[in-house]
Amino acid sequence: MQTTTIAFIGAGDISLLHAEAIKHCDSAQLVGLWSIDAELNREKSQLYGCRIYESVEALVNDPGVDAVFILTNLETHTQYATLAMNAGKHVLIEKPVAPSIKELKALKACAEKNNVMLCPGHNYIHEQSVQRTKELLDSGKLGKLATIYIHYHIHHPEEVARRYPGVIRHILTHHSYILLYLAGESHAPESVSAMKTVIHYDEFEGEDLAMINLRLKSGALAHFCADFAADDNSSEPWTFSVKVIGTEGATRFSYRDWIENKPGVVHSHTFSAYEWHIREEVRHFVEACIQKGAKPLSTIDDAITAQKIIEGCEASIAQKREISI
Ligand SMILES: NC(=O)c1ccc[n+]([C@@H]2O[C@H](COP(=O)([O-])OP(=O)(O)OC[C@H]3O[C@@H](n4cnc5c(N)ncnc54)[C@H](O)[C@@H]3O)[C@@H](O)[C@H]2O)c1
Repeated sequence: MQTTTIAFIGAGDISLLHAEAIKHCDSAQLVGLWSIDAELNREKSQLYGCRIYESVEALVNDPGVDAVFILTNLETHTQYATLAMNAGKHVLIEKPVAPSIKELKALKACAEKNNVMLCPGHNYIHEQSVQRTKELLDSGKLGKLATIYIHYHIHHPEEVARRYPGVIRHILTHHSYILLYLAGESHAPESVSAMKTVIHYDEFEGEDLAMINLRLKSGALAHFCADFAADDNSSEPWTFSVKVIGTEGATRFSYRDWIENKPGVVHSHTFSAYEWHIREEVRHFVEACIQKGAKPLSTIDDAITAQKIIEGCEASIAQKREISI
């Protein structure tokens, strides 16, 4: 069996799920990692049983590495992904892929120039029930699409939240690529109207709650909510859920359908689906994209459209009006 060797740039929380995913993929092997935090590098290399590179250059130039996962903070993604692709490595970049459309387009051009795979870390679309929803929508079995609701309500303490941008960039990026995957070209988003607020941060300037409404090309509407302020522990919680309603049928995916009673990294509970769909994302990247040349399920072009939605939200909030995308 062919083995794809992988190295991580970044050794923080999300690397735990990617390392676990690689362990579950027989044709992938994690060979090493590097980040700017020497202590974290030592801790994670021991945990994952892999080497530490002395520098990012040593990592990307190692001929024993086929692919590099970019698992650092958003601001550094473009710099490290460009280094890796110019060294001929396939790259998976955690979401949000880059902070601007200009950087996203530069990454796309760099992947084409070097003839390597560039895969956005758009994990939720590797959830099987989301994939089943897409098939039902595409086949017409749900009838005419009316609405798509995507909710996220998971409390994050301020010290965790401040490692990321506010929930618009950090969390609504997930909602945006899920919409693009499910709805496809016929329901492409045309305009957005957004609001944001801060419920529980004392010092961090990012928002911890945002809601947006989208008008789709087909006439359907979508509603997204992203919330770091509070957990939803009611009887039918909207911890993370995707609901699609058509004229002939409806579907739902919920994190709360699979719960383990122990904390999951920064979450109060372990949402088993989360680990599972990162596993499927890594398996697809290795076995379908790198080894067989398939396109990622969500491409760099989808990352560009997702970024247009995010920038549309920011403009809507600044101008207090609906914005064309
Ligand atoms: N897909 C998901 O559900 C999901 C969830 C959480 C985070 N993420 C994404 O994963 C990425 C990392 O998040 P995290 O939670 O692991 O963050 P983290 O803060 O736990 O880890 C960040 C890592 O990047 C390293 N780093 C920071 N600045 C660096 C620099 N200038 N050069 C080299 N290394 C640097 C840190 O040392 C650390 O190893 C972010 O892009 C985030 O948006 C995705």
